[in-house]
Amino acid sequence: MAKEIKPAETSEVRVRVLIVDNDEAHAQAVADSLTRVGYDCTVASAGAESGKKALDLIEVENFDVIITELMMDEVDGLEILRRSKAELPDAEVILLTGHASIKSALTAGQHGAHTYLTKPLDISELRQAVDRASSRIRLLRKTFELSRRLDEKFGFEGVIGNSPSMHRLIEKLRSVAPTDSTVLIQGESGTGKELVARAIHQNSERKNKPFVPLNISALPESILESELFGHEAGAFTGAATKRIGKFEYANGGTLFLDEVGEMPMATQIKLLRVLEERRITRLGANDEIPINVRLVAATNADLQDMIKKGTFRKDLYFRLSVVTIVLPPLSDRRADIPFLIDHFLKQFAERQKRPIPTVTRQVQQALMAYAWPGNIRELRNVVEGMMVLDIDGKLDVDDLPEGIGAGHHEHSEVDLIQNPAGNDGLIGRSLNDVEKYYIARALELTGGKRDEAANLLGIGERTLYRKIREYEL
Ligand SMILES: Nc1ncnc2c1ncn2[C@@H]1O[C@H](COP(=O)(O)OP(=O)(O)OP(=O)(O)O)[C@@H](O)[C@H]1O
Ligand SMILES: [Mg+2]
Repeated sequence: MAKEIKPAETSEVRVRVLIVDNDEAHAQAVADSLTRVGYDCTVASAGAESGKKALDLIEVENFDVIITELMMDEVDGLEILRRSKAELPDAEVILLTGHASIKSALTAGQHGAHTYLTKPLDISELRQAVDRASSRIRLLRKTFELSRRLDEKFGFEGVIGNSPSMHRLIEKLRSVAPTDSTVLIQGESGTGKELVARAIHQNSERKNKPFVPLNISALPESILESELFGHEAGAFTGAATKRIGKFEYANGGTLFLDEVGEMPMATQIKLLRVLEERRITRLGANDEIPINVRLVAATNADLQDMIKKGTFRKDLYFRLSVVTIVLPPLSDRRADIPFLIDHFLKQFAERQKRPIPTVTRQVQQALMAYAWPGNIRELRNVVEGMMVLDIDGKLDVDDLPEGIGAGHHEHSEVDLIQNPAGNDGLIGRSLNDVEKYYIARALELTGGKRDEAANLLGIGERTLYRKIREYEL
């Protein structure tokens, strides 16, 4: 801290601080010292009502840092901690206490989501704590801003990704798209195969001509060939009129053959011939029609394996896989998740004509940790579902669908006590777990003496008694 940095002035983001203390002179002194260095301070001090006043403010206003006295009548610092974690999950809470002993007893807290400082307050120590908190908050906000601007930077025609594998993939797309090469896209369901196919088309000279998708698995074998190549009137029973096939529709543009692994062997030979000769013959016709179509195919099947089993033609595979693009499952590129979340939030907000909701850290963590068997499609559906149900513009753990957030609450508190703050052991825990842990630690440290434990925790003995019962300690 050699140089006097003015936090709020060096950055476009203003950090808002709430100071809660029943000692008004003290609260004001803290506010003054922080205001001087550029923080935007609000004081909640109203004697015995201070805590309550703070809760009212937390309810309606946004704060980044909350500095609160621990020991207050009626609503105490722990209650403020609890409520601010619920209302403002990204806010940093700094607890002040007059008891020197609490500091050593509760150092674990400093590794968690909040900090303890003892009174009389060392102003530079407080400044350090607030600066630390605010730089974390600024980083958080910057990440969001950054991802908002990412379309230009990390995206490619709506293909979002900032993981190393997506960087490589986007790089490859950029160079392959403008060529006329046939491209084979491989990837699990929901990894973005069709999106990538469209991106390729959009970045080719064919972009003003049609992009024609055809899902092979959706078609009964008997109809497939007529869909691909078209037919003349009377070509087969039911073919009353002439029909143009997808190859002809796509002329000049791109034909996207989805689920190409589902193609029957007989059709595979015909497709191969079309690709080699660049001509088609409608079913029941004699004339060949020249076509100029770029083919992009996709599959989530293992074509190599199918070749071994004799269900996919090797020569067709080589024809299709001039360039192959492999889309990794989302669980292999978790770094993309925050960017995708932000992208979908923006997309749905625009569509629903409403502001982009905020996402709490816990939700981000839960979405980062989930396995995503349905890949990006599933993530997209989850984000959309949360937004549909959300009413307050803030996506919180409660808004998460069943099965996604649950993992985070299943840590047992035994595990928490045995392995406290190490490895950020408290981050991602519910506030109840954390509180239970602190109370258990305080009882442990005081040999079970409730009055001393209550003192240590800065809460009333009756409150402690109530909590011991509540947590069955
Ligand atoms: N990298 C990405 N960036 C943004 N959106 C994506 C990305 N990848 C996929 N999506 C979106 O996820 C959804 C599923 O993508 P898409 O339909 O392309 O997957 P797919 O691989 O074709 O799936 P399936 O095999 O089930 O047909 C789409 O809404 C798509 O826009
Ligand atoms: Mg698809």
